[in-house]
Amino acid sequence: MHNQDEEVLLRVEHLCQYFKFNKAVDDVSFDVKKGEVFGLVGESGCGKTTTGRSIIKLYDITSGNVYFKGKRIAAGTLSYKTAIRNARKEMKTASAERKAELKKFIAEQQKEIRDARFDHFNCDKLHGMDLANEVKEKYKPLIEKASGQERAELEKKYRYEYKIAKKQRYITQIQMIFQDPIASLDPRKTVYETIAEGLVIRGEKNKEVIDEKVYNVLDMVGLVREHASRYPHEFSGGQRQRIGVARAVVMNPEMIIADEPVSALDVSIQAQVINLLNDLRHKLGLTLIFIAHDLSVVKYFSDRIGVMYYGKMVELATSDELFAHPLHPYTRSLLSAIPLPDPMYEKQRVRIKYDPLSAHDYSKQAPTMREILPGHFVQCNDEEFEQYKRELGI
Ligand SMILES: Nc1ncnc2c1ncn2[C@@H]1O[C@H](COP(=O)(O)OP(=O)(O)O)[C@@H](O)[C@H]1O
Ligand SMILES: [Mg+2]
Repeated sequence: MHNQDEEVLLRVEHLCQYFKFNKAVDDVSFDVKKGEVFGLVGESGCGKTTTGRSIIKLYDITSGNVYFKGKRIAAGTLSYKTAIRNARKEMKTASAERKAELKKFIAEQQKEIRDARFDHFNCDKLHGMDLANEVKEKYKPLIEKASGQERAELEKKYRYEYKIAKKQRYITQIQMIFQDPIASLDPRKTVYETIAEGLVIRGEKNKEVIDEKVYNVLDMVGLVREHASRYPHEFSGGQRQRIGVARAVVMNPEMIIADEPVSALDVSIQAQVINLLNDLRHKLGLTLIFIAHDLSVVKYFSDRIGVMYYGKMVELATSDELFAHPLHPYTRSLLSAIPLPDPMYEKQRVRIKYDPLSAHDYSKQAPTMREILPGHFVQCNDEEFEQYKRELGI
């Protein structure tokens, strides 16, 4: 258990993000291991972008937890509130003994709510304070030993580093690349300003440092120094997406969430951008969540794939396993949509349509996510679980 845990970089636990009555993401759980590419796949509107945006805290999530490197970075409270409401209901008719139990339970849930709020709203600030304290510990003995001019210089350096450290946000370790490179780039900002923006926000003022980082990252994404002074509209779609990649990479993140980074691009350009992301992840040791609306794009370079349908995760497995033994009918329908460059196969390829109402009978029992083989999860009820086991011959 522990060994496995060490590898986990991101843990998403029962994530819910509701927009009024629209359960855009509803009880989604998955882990992303350090260094892997996790593909998140599903048709338009199923909640992929909302999942990504929830992870980087663009929303105050409705319920569930998100942990990054073991630290809780996002937490919602609805599940605790619901538990409290149910307990209060039960209290009305409960025995004295049960009442005491329920009271204790409610107090526990209230503490969960306080803790969730605290982590959700403070983890970033606390991270900055921790780093600032580290800077303080580093400089204190040095400054004490020094005197005169040397001491003055040390104090100046200390103040500068302390101020920057305090501004660091834990969440910048996760960067997102957006689907539409045109909409996500500010047309009034030069490439240089666009890429430097995140550095400036986090307190970097040294022009030389910013220059070096920006030019370095331009080179990394296959652009050149001369591009720095130009505006987004002067670039092609593929180049614009490279700017989007540069903007994320310059922050030196550990994880990148690439939200359909190639969907808006010509097919001929798609492979270039995917290759770039693949190169960068090896070079920089990045962990990637790669979001796509079909399986063909994620097939080759995802280690594991999660399939979403209508706000729910319906199947999750390694790429190889998912392609060898797709179980959920929605996964099968996605697979049947992938064209292959084999004319014989193409002639026989039958697109399977997924219709949840005819595919499942959940009138007697609702489905849950179950592990059918080690690491292979599928959303199903008891009856389906037995059927899938028979199909797998286990
Ligand atoms: N900010 C928002 N406010 C209200 N509804 C939203 C918002 N963002 C997304 N939605 C809704 O949530 C659902 C999931 O959307 P999204 O996460 O963008 O799906 P995907 O990225 O898989 O196409 C859709 O029904 C969408 O209309
Ligand atoms: Mg989307």
